[in-house]
Amino acid sequence: MVADIGSPEAHDGSGTFGSVMAHDTAGAVARPAAATTSSSVALLDHPVLVARDVSVGFGAKTVLAGVDLEFTPGTITALIGPTGCGKSTFLRSLNRMNDKVRGYWRTGAIEFDGEEISSHQMDPLVLRRRVGMVFQRPNPFPMSIGDNVVAGVKAHRLSPRRELPAVAERFLREVGLWSAVSDRLSDSPFRLSGGQQQLLCLARALAVEPDVLLLDEPTSSLDPVTTDMVEDLLRQLAPGLTMVIVTHNLAQAKRLAGTTAFLYNGRLVETGETERMFEAPNEPETVSYVSGRIG
Ligand SMILES: Nc1ncnc2c1ncn2[C@@H]1O[C@H](COP(=O)(O)OP(=O)(O)OP(=O)(O)O)[C@@H](O)[C@H]1O
Ligand SMILES: [Mg+2]
Repeated sequence: MVADIGSPEAHDGSGTFGSVMAHDTAGAVARPAAATTSSSVALLDHPVLVARDVSVGFGAKTVLAGVDLEFTPGTITALIGPTGCGKSTFLRSLNRMNDKVRGYWRTGAIEFDGEEISSHQMDPLVLRRRVGMVFQRPNPFPMSIGDNVVAGVKAHRLSPRRELPAVAERFLREVGLWSAVSDRLSDSPFRLSGGQQQLLCLARALAVEPDVLLLDEPTSSLDPVTTDMVEDLLRQLAPGLTMVIVTHNLAQAKRLAGTTAFLYNGRLVETGETERMFEAPNEPETVSYVSGRIG
């Protein structure tokens, strides 16, 4: 089985920590590690990810048209807008997560590290390693806690097998989960609390050292204390990681994002520095949305 670590369901099957659940034992995937490391993109001062005149839709329906957005290395951008405006569809377009969704289409250009993401030189699995994703609902793989963290590292052969326990520990510590799980790495992740599962998914997403992390309402199912933890972590990661976060929580956008983009009625209404977007928006729809009159 080819492990697509970006997908909600897929998992690499070979156990390192022992697994409490039966799963595919097909072994790690023979896939060369990506040639470039995370820091190589972050060092460049041009946008790491660019959408130009992007339209997306399903079948006859256009969800968004003519979106232009750039994501600068080391920044956090919030995508806001009312339910159904296309935030998730757009976000998932950035790492080709929608490719297999029935009826999905996209026009315009999306370039990662200067290359169109749909070009045949771009391996979608490598793209999803470098442009990772965290979903609204935690989606641990059906394997042990320890194996979850290193699933992508193994699939992409980013570290020798003997180093995997150290990699798992490093990223569990990074997300603040180590002390809670250090004595149960071989256990099922499904007995962890929802918040702990989400932290585990974050650890898994970070362990492959992506350049960009796409986060689709990552804290909407978390309690305020865990939400604070996740926000602190994202802020700490920001200098070395480019993040795009979808959120309905406008206070969260203000706390986290340097740039905010407002999507509404099938288009990108306005984007800019977060404080200005909230304090002095240019467009009447943005004024209405940030003041709570629409959405
Ligand atoms: N697989 C699909 N097939 C057809 N239409 C879809 C599909 N997925 C999403 N849509 C439609 O595309 C539009 C945008 O959906 P999307 O999930 O991107 O919105 P959203 O802004 O993320 O909303 P929310 O804030 O509720 O998560 C909606 O009208 C939705 O019904
Ligand atoms: Mg959504």
